[in-house]
Amino acid sequence: MTVMFLLVISMSIALITAESSVYFREQFEDGDAWKSRWVESTHKSDYGKFVLSAGTFYGDAEKDKGLQTSQDAHFYALSSRFKEFSNKHQPLVVQFTVKHEQSIDCGGGYIKLFPSDLKQEDMHGDSTYNIMFGPDICGPGTKKVHVIFHYKGKNHLINKDIRCKDDEHSHLYTLIVKPDNTYEVKIDNKKVESGSLEDDWDFLPPKKIKDPDARKPEDWDEREKIDDPDDKKPEDWEKPENIPDPDAKKPDDWDDEMDGEWEPPMVTNPEYKGEWKPKQIDNPVYKGKWVHPEIDNPEYTADPEIYKYNSIGVIGLDLWQVKSGTIFDNFLITNDPKLAEEVGNETWGATKVMDKKYLSIKTDQKEHAYYI
Ligand SMILES: *[C@@H]1O[C@H](CO)[C@@H](O)[C@H](O)[C@H]1NC(C)=O
Repeated sequence: MTVMFLLVISMSIALITAESSVYFREQFEDGDAWKSRWVESTHKSDYGKFVLSAGTFYGDAEKDKGLQTSQDAHFYALSSRFKEFSNKHQPLVVQFTVKHEQSIDCGGGYIKLFPSDLKQEDMHGDSTYNIMFGPDICGPGTKKVHVIFHYKGKNHLINKDIRCKDDEHSHLYTLIVKPDNTYEVKIDNKKVESGSLEDDWDFLPPKKIKDPDARKPEDWDEREKIDDPDDKKPEDWEKPENIPDPDAKKPDDWDDEMDGEWEPPMVTNPEYKGEWKPKQIDNPVYKGKWVHPEIDNPEYTADPEIYKYNSIGVIGLDLWQVKSGTIFDNFLITNDPKLAEEVGNETWGATKVMDKKYLSIKTDQKEHAYYI
């Protein structure tokens, strides 16, 4: 009793004292100061420029300012550093908004989380990252949310197809990775996908494999039905498929010398029965489909820490866009899913309503620019 009681008490204390940490937050609400927090890579000389903008329509002219891609057909490589942390034993929540107000044809809208040893000035497409997350659009064929995890030297893409938003509004993307090796993806604060890391990515080899020593016995009969050996083709079965039309008459004015020998046209034989096939009967020695027995895969070792990264220290926008104009805003990295939901409501949730209202005016009255 007492032990139980103490356990309950200590558990509640653990719950109460579990603090939420915000590792990174960026709202772009202090003018040009973001330039001191974000570093442009110089790995290539012609990366596209990000500019601070709320775009051509918005809910709030100040709050909706974010980083906007400003040059068509360019690569972008920008990143921001925060105090290094590990998500060991804690949830990891990454959240941000993406607004493709240019009505994007092809381009990335995702972020990458890097280990703290990333050289930001040299960040590029092949820099090793921990997680890549967010929307990616290219033509009608690709409209998906990437969730890629770096695990033991390899990038692993999710096995499921998560559709991203492809309209011109601002949308909130959230990834939650939990220490019990489960995950959740939310769009606009609504769950769109969830499950277990082990099931939805190919991090580990399969738990079971087909027994390499098992063979289907030679006499295993998998035929459910067989030809009836007692069924014989009737003797009068064979009839030609087409016969000369018995009703056809040689025309009166037919001239054998001029027209050649008269032949009646061919018609389908009403007595033709087609190809003969014996009746099918149940196979008396049918054994069912042979199932290859499975054994535990000797290559498989469970990993209770698939979710874990020892070092997370940089968030980056490393992407390609054909038609620029995408605005990234409201970046948040925390260990607290509830807090992220609240922040999502207060930022994206508060201004998107107005942003929608503006768009409906725009549609009704063509291009009259009514900013709210
Ligand atoms: C966020 O907003 C939704 C919709 O209004 C609401 O249902 C939800 O409880 C809010 N979440 C938090 C954490 O405030």
